[in-house]
Order: sequence, then C-alpha cells, then structure tokens
Amino acid sequence: MSAESRGETTLEVPGGDRAMTMLRERAFAVMERAYAPYSKFRVGAALLATDGSITEGCNVENAAYPSGICAERSALSGAVARGNQTFSAIVIATEADEPTPPCGMCRQVLEEFSPKMIVVAVTRGGREGRWTLEELLPKAFNPHSLDRR
Ligand code: THU
Repeated sequence: MSAESRGETTLEVPGGDRAMTMLRERAFAVMERAYAPYSKFRVGAALLATDGSITEGCNVENAAYPSGICAERSALSGAVARGNQTFSAIVIATEADEPTPPCGMCRQVLEEFSPKMIVVAVTRGGREGRWTLEELLPKAFNPHSLDRR
C-alpha cells in the first residue's frame, strides 16, 4: 500500500518528474513577465490543480507599494476564476540562489483551499526546496476556525 493511499502526505508532485518539469518551465516563463520595478525581485508561480490543469501567476508591484500582489496569490486568483478550487502543488521560481518559500500571506491564502498541497521552490541553478503547506503553516487559521464561535 502506498503512503498516499494510507492518507499520508508525501512530497511527490502528482504526475512525477514530467509534471514537475512542466511546472518548473511554466513558473520560470511567467517569472519573465513579472512586474517588479521596485524590488527587482521577480517571482513566477505555477499552480497545479487536482484536475491536472496549471495556472500561472507573477508578482505585480505598484507605485503604492502595498497594492502589489505576490506571484502565488496572483496564480491562485486566476485558478479560482477558471473554476479550480483544489490544488495539489505549487512551484515557485525566482532568480535567487536559494529556493524561496512563499510569504506568510500567500501561505494563508493557499491554506484556504488546499492545506495538504505541496510547495516547491526552485532556482535557475537547479536547487529545490520542498515542503507540505502544513509544514510551512502549522496550526493554521482556516475555514473551520470560524465554526468555533
Ligand atoms: N513576492 C512574491 O511574489 N512571492 C512571495 O512569496 C514573496 C515575495 C514578491 C512580492 C514583491 O513583489 C517582491 O517579491 C519582493 O518582496
């Protein structure tokens, strides 16, 4: 019996290496379209839905700094608009030397839909960080928290 069928979370992206290669390519491609003139820190995200579809997003900054949005939330909004609300993985590409995990706000927004998803951060040089969202955001505030009133 596989770990997945036992209900355990693995760090395997569904679709294996082929899916991972595609997600990585799509994340780096959308990173090129990021609008980050202020931070000069471009981010691309490729979000894999459980139906196998991929939606990308990039960071879009603004002269009014807090109005900017991260790549991960941008991808999530696009996916929800396409009708996807359950996700198995997100791949995050940057130009940093070290894999860059998502910011706290993006972790929270991903948690709303798919707390068990896998988060993969990749670099141009081939380095990779892999976590479950649960690891990145333990004891999260989630939709069930609202039932505890
Ligand atoms: N950024 C993301 O797009 N995702 C993250 O998880 C971390 C930060 C963006 C926001 C801003 O445009 C730039 O990176 C620098 O913080």
